[in-house]
Formats: sequence, structure tokens, C-alpha cells
Amino acid sequence: MLRVVVLVSGGGTNLQAIIDGVHNGSITNTEIVGVISNNKNAYALERAAQNQIPKRCISPRDYENRSLFNEALLAALDEMQPDLIVLAGFLVVIPEMMITKYRNRMINIHPSLIPSFCGTGFYGLKVHEKALERGVKVVGATVHFVDEGTDTGPILLQKAVEVANGDTPEVLQRRVMEQAEWKILPRAIDLIANGKVRVADGKAIIE
Ligand code: GAR
Repeated sequence: MLRVVVLVSGGGTNLQAIIDGVHNGSITNTEIVGVISNNKNAYALERAAQNQIPKRCISPRDYENRSLFNEALLAALDEMQPDLIVLAGFLVVIPEMMITKYRNRMINIHPSLIPSFCGTGFYGLKVHEKALERGVKVVGATVHFVDEGTDTGPILLQKAVEVANGDTPEVLQRRVMEQAEWKILPRAIDLIANGKVRVADGKAIIE
């Protein structure tokens, strides 16, 4: 069984998609062993509780400085002994120590087709605002492994979604979640749980 820890900051609809996937069998060989949020008000924590998943809040506000927060986050993670860390709307800069320790064992869902609309400053609704501003006709989502850069790690899965006339950022965000994020994130976990993914030369290969 792949031990998965999910890191969240907000609503947790991607967490819900993973929980549903484990329940309905579209994600196999997987156990969600913990949920960690940096935000105590994240509804994602409620979702964890409703599903009897151990949850923790590690908030930067409770620590004197960033490095103490980083240490606490890594300690909480290590305690849960994850095989895979899933960043599901986790809006915190990942400490380098954590990237090194969990290289090729940490994935992120990003709400665009990387390398478009990604990097510093591109998160959540902002991504969709920028896509609409630019007038692109196709958007989407990406699951990638996490490396030292922002949204630069090996790409595992992507799915395209069409923009419609009159879309608002909120409407587009919801469509990208429904048609792309909630599908490719559970699929990525299932592939990893079943030994179908390897990383070579900075690229993720599905076998
Ligand atoms: C999702 O759209 C996710 O792709 C995005 O935050 C949202 C979280 O929603 N993540 C990023 O922008 C990361 N750069 P959720 O809490 O309902 O899953």
C-alpha cells in the first residue's frame, strides 16, 4: 500500500477527489495516512475529519520564523511516514530540505498546462485570470513532480480544457477542476501506487 500524505491550504476539492478515488477503487493500493494544512480554517481539514483521516495544522503563524516552521512541517510529515506527498492546493513555498528528502516522491497539481501560466505569482484564481486576459482558447491542468523551482519539475500528466465565450475566472477555474484536476490527480496517484512511473533525465515516464 502506498502511504500518501496530502498537503492543503484551502477548500480541498482535490483532496476530496483523492478520497473519492480511494473509496470507489479508481485509486488502488493506496492509503491516505494524513492531511496537513498550513491554514487552520481550511475546509480541507473538515473533509479529512469526515473521512477519519489523521489531520494536522502546521501554521507559520505559530512559529517565530520560517526555518522553525519548515522544521515543524518536515517533522510532522516524517512522522506520517509517507511514500508519496501530494500537494493539493498547498500554497506554501516548499522548504529545500523537504524537496531533497522527498525527491521524486512529491507531486503537485497546478491549474494550467505548464509551461504556460505557471511560476511565481501563478496560483489559484490568478492563473485563470491571466489565461482569460491573454485570450487563450485552451487551458488545463498539470501534475508534476516537485523540484527546486516553482512548477519546473518533471511533468507526469496533463489534460486540456476549452475556454468558452463569457467565461469568468471562477467559471473557468471550476471547469478546469471538474474536467482536468479531479481526474488527473487521482490517476497520477494510481499510476505511482502501481509502480508505473519512473523519472529519468528530468522527465517522468509512464510505463
Ligand atoms: C486548485 O485549483 C489547485 O490546482 C491550485 O489551487 C486550487 C486548490 O483547490 N493550486 C495551485 O494554484 C498551486 N500553484 P482545492 O483546495 O479545492 O483542491
